[in-house]
Amino acid sequence: MTDRSLLILPGDGIGPEVMAEVRKVIDWFGTRGISFTVTEDLVGGAAYDAHGTPLTDATMAKAQEVDAVLLGAVGGPKYDVLDFSVKPERGLLRLRKEMDLYANLRPAQCFDALADFSSLKKDVVAGLDIMIVRELTSGVYFGEPRGIIKEGNERVGINTQRYTESEIARVARSAFELARRRGNKVCSMEKANVMESGVLWRQVVQEVRDAEYPDVELSHMYADAGAMQLTRWPKQFDVIVTDNLFGDLLSDLAAMLTGSLGMLPSASLGAPMENGRPKALYEPVHGSAPDIAGQGKANPIACILSFAMALRYSFDLGSEAERLEHAVNAVLADGLRTADLMGPEGGTPISTAQMGDAIVAKLAASV
Ligand code: NAD
Ligand code: IPM
Ligand code: MN
Repeated sequence: MTDRSLLILPGDGIGPEVMAEVRKVIDWFGTRGISFTVTEDLVGGAAYDAHGTPLTDATMAKAQEVDAVLLGAVGGPKYDVLDFSVKPERGLLRLRKEMDLYANLRPAQCFDALADFSSLKKDVVAGLDIMIVRELTSGVYFGEPRGIIKEGNERVGINTQRYTESEIARVARSAFELARRRGNKVCSMEKANVMESGVLWRQVVQEVRDAEYPDVELSHMYADAGAMQLTRWPKQFDVIVTDNLFGDLLSDLAAMLTGSLGMLPSASLGAPMENGRPKALYEPVHGSAPDIAGQGKANPIACILSFAMALRYSFDLGSEAERLEHAVNAVLADGLRTADLMGPEGGTPISTAQMGDAIVAKLAASV
């Protein structure tokens, strides 16, 4: 039996609710002889409540050892008052930084059954399949100096946008590699018109393309115009590569092209380890959704599709990933919807658990 190790960190809010549905999917694969050694641990507010820190060193060490980490979501209003250094979000940022997960893949695919549901016209989103590659371990999220300082009588908030050329080059390579397996097109987004880091970003991405990927089509766009183009005609894009902050914003925007934030998975990948697999963390793009937590309303699909990405990128199980993606599509085609996928005309939503069960039933029907 192949050993496949997974560390599951459900986190806060709807994190544990959606992760419970992923566990059902993992168990189903287990019955098919595709088994995983699963360890579960705390992250975010849950870890703070238990240990006074959003990520213990022991959990960090476990994350470094496993084949893949699966994370639900962190954060919530209860923790807003905490010092910045122990906020739930710091646990997630530490995982990303210490595992050096520099390439965050955020696909936005419009499932056929949801083409009518997007806030954009059907022909704008039907068949949409784009991949946002967000730089995840640098930029303004981590640049120094940072902090709130006193200048005379005033407080000043400081963050620094900083990128080295090697940081830009490695995430650019991830984007070009992905593009070669898809539509062979990369659009790089920055603000080279106002930021020096954007000027360097544009230069380095172009240099990597010219030296190593001359077969891939590359264009450059200012990130604000990119946001506009993403809503105007998103199908013009194949792979988008962008920095940490712009990638955060653009991927939430892209979520609405697919219908709901509850649909969008992500993979955060680092450099390949000795076994050839990348260090990896998989998580939905959405957060802990405090407004619906504990009510059984959350859509588990983003988290389930994040597990599909783990099958593909960490375990070489591409056909099983497709099987899972088809099961999700089939459930949506049957008209089953969690509340976030209900249009103004209404209807009866199903619960988080019912959605998980329906997806497992489709999986079972697929063999
Ligand atoms: P959010 O993504 O949690 O919620 C935004 C909106 O989308 C809410 O109305 C929510 O109900 C809805 N939503 C999100 N996921 C959903 C799902 N699976 N099913 C149905 N509806 C869903 O963003 P927010 O409200 O800005 O942030 C809440 C907390 O989550 C904050 O503490 C934030 O820092 C944290 N956060 C964490 C992550 C993460 O863990 N990766 C990501 C984003 C935000
Ligand atoms: C995301 C989130 C995180 C981010 C927060 C929770 C640290 O918004 O994963 O998109 O800003 O990267
Ligand atoms: Mn975000």
